[in-house]
Amino acid sequence: MFWTPENWGSVPEGWNRSHLLGLEDLSAKEILILLDLADRFRREVLENPDNRRKIPLLAGKAIVNLFFENSTRTRTSFGLAGRRLGADVVDFAAATSSVAKGETVVDTAKNICAMGMDAVVVRHSCPGVPLTLAQNLKGCAVVNAGDGAHEHPTQGLLDILTIRRRFGRVEGLTVAVVGDIEHSRVARSNIFALQKLGATPIVCGPSTLVSEHWRDLGVEVCYSLDELLPRVDVFNLLRIQFERQVVRPFPSIAEYAHLYAMNSERLVHCKNDALIIAPGPINRGVEITPEVADGDRSAILDQVTNGVAVRMAVLWATLSVAAKR
Ligand code: CP
Repeated sequence: MFWTPENWGSVPEGWNRSHLLGLEDLSAKEILILLDLADRFRREVLENPDNRRKIPLLAGKAIVNLFFENSTRTRTSFGLAGRRLGADVVDFAAATSSVAKGETVVDTAKNICAMGMDAVVVRHSCPGVPLTLAQNLKGCAVVNAGDGAHEHPTQGLLDILTIRRRFGRVEGLTVAVVGDIEHSRVARSNIFALQKLGATPIVCGPSTLVSEHWRDLGVEVCYSLDELLPRVDVFNLLRIQFERQVVRPFPSIAEYAHLYAMNSERLVHCKNDALIIAPGPINRGVEITPEVADGDRSAILDQVTNGVAVRMAVLWATLSVAAKR
């Protein structure tokens, strides 16, 4: 059997957005719609190889992956998600494009959309680029694949889907986001969504990477990972983003790892069912040791699988609304 929009059903009532720019503006209901759709795509399509080519809900649509920053997981999974749904997916490579000749981001996107794109998936180092494109591109869905240190909404959704599938709930859980919080779009998207769904986010890391201002978002700030070990359900371990730093925020990587790396010794002091997640890429031996990254508490590769499901949900939901406008 092939699924069609008729027998798969339409996007649930309550989703009316043709763009996904961040999780800050979404209601709990909207987040749950995307999580439920993603869960269904994972169970009914991704976990059943016979069904992977049988769901052309986006047949005839064209999607461009407009990435101005490097990516492995996000770009590949958006591409796969679009193709699983029957869309044509075009990959744009900034380094070999006419951006190098001085063309602006908006002109680049407008020219590519003039070729007949229905959706733009954009990653850029400047916060706000997805919003600017949403304001300038007529009739095109815009999806934020990470903008500077602002938001990475599909990463936030896949993190929470991974947590929900493991614990059966999100409400009531305590989630520590550990590491380079200051430069992290993942931390912000996690915090916004976790709070809306009734979980308690905590940010943790050295004071040079976790300012007191995070308390303004209603988040607990903690500078000692060891203090958190017995009371946290999920540890989301962030990479140190050296590429975004002007001054090194700690004396040495060895010192950082000594205080903040999740390792086997620390795992002993965690709850028995504590879950380890990380957005990737991971730096083995810095924020996480290899035995933890590859161990049975780690859901890192499960997150990547959920990333395809989440991106299928987001592309289908946003394009369904864009098609009606
Ligand atoms: N987590 C994440 O965004 O990974 P990539 O940079 O490889 O896309």
